[in-house]
Amino acid sequence: MFLLSNVLATFSVGRVVASGHPNFKSGDLVWGMSGCEEYTLITDPESLFKINHPELPLSYYTGVLGMPGLTAYAGFFDVSKPKKGDYVFVSSASGAVGQLVGQLAKITDCYVVGSAGSDEKVNLLKTKFGFDDAFNYKKEEDLNAALKRCFPRGIDIYFENVGGAMLAAVLPNMRMNGRIAVCGMISQYNLEQPNGAPNLFCLVAKRIRMEGFMVLDYFGTYNKFEEEIAGYLKEGKITVVEDVAEGIENVSAALIGLFSGRNIGKQLVTIARE
Ligand SMILES: NC(=O)c1ccc[n+]([C@@H]2O[C@H](COP(=O)([O-])OP(=O)(O)OC[C@H]3O[C@@H](n4cnc5c(N)ncnc54)[C@H](OP(=O)(O)O)[C@@H]3O)[C@@H](O)[C@H]2O)c1
Ligand SMILES: *[C@@H]1O[C@H](CO)[C@@H](O)[C@H](O)[C@H]1NC(C)=O
Repeated sequence: MFLLSNVLATFSVGRVVASGHPNFKSGDLVWGMSGCEEYTLITDPESLFKINHPELPLSYYTGVLGMPGLTAYAGFFDVSKPKKGDYVFVSSASGAVGQLVGQLAKITDCYVVGSAGSDEKVNLLKTKFGFDDAFNYKKEEDLNAALKRCFPRGIDIYFENVGGAMLAAVLPNMRMNGRIAVCGMISQYNLEQPNGAPNLFCLVAKRIRMEGFMVLDYFGTYNKFEEEIAGYLKEGKITVVEDVAEGIENVSAALIGLFSGRNIGKQLVTIARE
């Protein structure tokens, strides 16, 4: 979420009440960027998508079938270029993006380990999302040692969500020709002085490719993604954990909670019900 003029902007699910655009008609279910409000005026329908599987929970279009899902899919497949048997590490692994990355890695026959900030989240990773292993980074005294324990042969793919100390610990544990898909660095967003990894030279000797990406660049591929993930959901190959807050009065608490890890799974807020 960020500020768009005076209204907090977010990705949401809604129903069209009135439309002057030929592609959308009153009654259509859509997801996309909107104001964080009960009714919103969309002036840029470029980032508005039709919901083609209303038989699935509509809330999924804020997560696994929406922007965070496409982020996981594009970052994992297009940026990190996984191969069967790769060793994959995901940080913030129980979150909206991370939980899908881990499950896509298992579907691709990779070995996947996740980190998260509570024992409850670690348990979810192992029991619900099928991660091969997981650890609570807040309880590890030495992140480098934790990674060595989980990846005695090193990491082929790091799906980066947090930055800072975790990135610094990952770099020396990467394998030859490893890939780091830089999705986000949430540990850095509210710092006045960023504390980046001092050991980027690790990229050189091991020929590591570290590449950032933005989900917006993949919006054109949305329909293919939606069909594939809707199929996995129906077959039970992908599961979803959501953290639902109720009411517009709870939006700011839900947003702030992301920065302390209060959310368990994809954080969403129900603003209006039919
Ligand atoms: N590139 C793109 O286009 C794109 C699109 C969407 C999202 N993103 C990025 O993807 C990442 C994940 O987003 P999400 O929506 O899935 O969020 P999320 O993981 O559902 O929620 C945020 C989580 O970040 C963790 N966290 C918060 N502060 C932290 C810190 N200082 N150090 C380490 N972990 C911290 C917390 O989990 P713990 O309890 O595990 O610490 C929190 O629950 C974010 O970095 C976001 O900016 C990028
Ligand atoms: C949201 O707000 C209402 C009213 O202020 C409150 O009763 C409710 O418990 C809040 N929390 C969540 C997580 O929905």
